[in-house]
Amino acid sequence: MYLGRGCSSLLWQHMVARVSTAYFPADLPTLVTIRRVAVIGAGTMGSGIAQVCAQTGWETHLFDAFPESLERGIRNIEEFWERGISKGKTTSQQKEEWSSNLILDSEISEAVMDSDIVIEAVPEKMELKRSIFQELEDLAPPNAILATNTSGLPVSEIAAHTSCPERVIGMHFFNPVPLMKLLEIVRHKSVDERTVSIAKEVGEAMGKTTILVNDVPGFATSRLGVVLGNEAIRMLSEGVASASDIDTAMRLGYRHPMGPLELSDLVGLDVRMDILNSLAEAFQDDSYTPHPLLKSLVESGDLGKKSGRGIYDWTTGEKTERL
Ligand SMILES: NC(=O)c1ccc[n+]([C@@H]2O[C@H](COP(=O)([O-])OP(=O)(O)OC[C@H]3O[C@@H](n4cnc5c(N)ncnc54)[C@H](O)[C@@H]3O)[C@@H](O)[C@H]2O)c1
Repeated sequence: MYLGRGCSSLLWQHMVARVSTAYFPADLPTLVTIRRVAVIGAGTMGSGIAQVCAQTGWETHLFDAFPESLERGIRNIEEFWERGISKGKTTSQQKEEWSSNLILDSEISEAVMDSDIVIEAVPEKMELKRSIFQELEDLAPPNAILATNTSGLPVSEIAAHTSCPERVIGMHFFNPVPLMKLLEIVRHKSVDERTVSIAKEVGEAMGKTTILVNDVPGFATSRLGVVLGNEAIRMLSEGVASASDIDTAMRLGYRHPMGPLELSDLVGLDVRMDILNSLAEAFQDDSYTPHPLLKSLVESGDLGKKSGRGIYDWTTGEKTERL
């Protein structure tokens, strides 16, 4: 059993990662423990995934192709921990221990070298993900699990562009990763069942509840989520109600914890548009086509909370109506 550096406090002892990993392509699995994780992409999701991996006690390497994104990612993590300290939920000692588990890398080869599992969280573009996975196959150890955090692209297609589809898997985390309990594990037809069980163990060690979903575009979550968000944007553009009234309708009328427009801003309008485009293509169905208002917001760089403006204005720190 590996006891990570971030695990000395009582609060986090239960989180200590006792995760077994199988070695590929050996015939029989060799059980060892996860020691080192690499996260590719330090945006909304990658920074959250890296944060939780560091908190779990793993040596966590975070890489991004853009230095400013890497800086923003680490700043978000630090701010999260600082807020935890000011609310009395985190101690300074924990923050120090977790920080020491987190290593920023400016080269992908350094990040993935010696990693037991690599979790990719780059933008939702098939071409980009395929090329990253081809790189990972060459750079990561031959026994490492290669996971994608895609929201809905076919994992089998990403896996098929490697020569090791048996160790490629979908691990779909939710935003914000440190707070959201769900992890959707996406099983495609060429994956080895050992990979599936390791991904499940990894998720559980990170404190997540896992569900197992077959590799159908949009999985069990994104398909419903983006359709609701796109329809809410259509209703906003038709003047059915204000953005906050549409959100309140779903919060109070249907007990959703957050309205679909606010949630779209939180997820990122670009991310939502990419998912809609990939669903429209996969199902050859125009009903998934992003609404023109969504397209125009993305084109003008209004991507939601992360850029300061989206459907709402977030620049003051509070959500205010703007459309
Ligand atoms: N935002 C969400 O709520 C959410 C939820 C679940 C899953 N996802 C999925 O997670 C993935 C990432 O989404 P996100 O919201 O974090 O996006 P994001 O735009 O916030 O972050 C993507 C990061 O990848 C970096 N990047 C771009 N090209 C790269 C490359 N070649 N190598 C390394 N880094 C690169 C960017 O600089 C950026 O920091 C997508 O597949 C998305 O569908 C997003």
